[in-house]
Amino acid sequence: MEITAMPRTPMRAHTLPGKYFASQEVHDRETDQIFLKQWICVGRASSIIEPGDFFLHEMDGESFIIVRAASGQINCFYNVCRHRGTRLQQESCGHIKSRIHCPYHAWGYDTDGNLQSAPNMMGAEDFCVVDHSLQSAACVVWQGFILINQQQSVNAFQTDFDEVLHRFDDWELDRLVSAHQITYEVQANWKVIFQNYSECYHCSLVHPQLRPITSVETASNDFTDGHFLGGPMILADNYKSVTMSGQWCGSPLQKLSAEDLRRVYFYTLCPSLFISPHPDYVLTHRIERVNVGSTRIVCNWLFPPEVIQQDTFDPSQAVEFWDLTNRQDWEICELTQKGVQSRAYRPGPYSGLESMLAAFDDYYLALMATA
Ligand code: FES
Ligand SMILES: [Fe+2]
Repeated sequence: MEITAMPRTPMRAHTLPGKYFASQEVHDRETDQIFLKQWICVGRASSIIEPGDFFLHEMDGESFIIVRAASGQINCFYNVCRHRGTRLQQESCGHIKSRIHCPYHAWGYDTDGNLQSAPNMMGAEDFCVVDHSLQSAACVVWQGFILINQQQSVNAFQTDFDEVLHRFDDWELDRLVSAHQITYEVQANWKVIFQNYSECYHCSLVHPQLRPITSVETASNDFTDGHFLGGPMILADNYKSVTMSGQWCGSPLQKLSAEDLRRVYFYTLCPSLFISPHPDYVLTHRIERVNVGSTRIVCNWLFPPEVIQQDTFDPSQAVEFWDLTNRQDWEICELTQKGVQSRAYRPGPYSGLESMLAAFDDYYLALMATA
């Protein structure tokens, strides 16, 4: 893996104009240009293990049923009945015994979306059950993450994710499971959250607990443009991981090189995911755009299942560290959101430590400009 030294931030690079953080018109264009077209992370496959297990994902006024079918495949369906459109599932998660039943007139669908029962419809003119399967969205599982796409096919995923398909194989990310989850509601635009995660210029002031563990001077990037950005920081001597104690929670991940045992990586995957591989766990932030000035962030601490099963396992050192750090970040993000909404705000110059923000802006603006 080629790692570049901290790339220079283009001299022209300034923060985005205020409308990108405060305008409903921009928000609506993002819906069309980004959130309808890009792969959106909706959760982990390990949360729906048994056939029939499901959860709902709400996004931009739509509701999706993410369900594991009898074959083991995970499907994504619009939560919309093919009779008169009624919302099918209302519980946020659960188990479908045999059919997804509509609460209105009892049409029943299997977990592959096929209409299996439609009471009293046999006399209806030209009615045929095969014409009334649930509407689906493309759905893939990559490294244990479930990603959906409303406009592209599953086949397009391989091309879209080509550069990172196997990036996390050494961490065995596909088989890691969550030992802890925290959901945060932050009063800031989703891009403020992305930009905060993408630089450590703020770390010495905002994160006094992180400062001795990883220094911004050690930061570099192995993905410097496009939808996937970021790279490693090097752990200081005497620290084995980013935890309250500076030690591992359990044991280091088995397949890591000596080099990766001394590194923490910080990657963004526009527009819905941060992945932070550590020597002993992987921290993930799933980003949900709620409205112009509000974002939901679902944070998970992922470990190997056999580590979690050990009697002595305790993830609290990792959870406590990043919960503290997250809250420090959310507080400064909310202050930023207040400022960028001001009529006094003008785009400001990026520092040399903010090259990933300039790269994010370039990619974002290119998506927004696409016909
Ligand atoms: S609206 Fe669903 S069965 Fe009638
Ligand atoms: Fe931070």
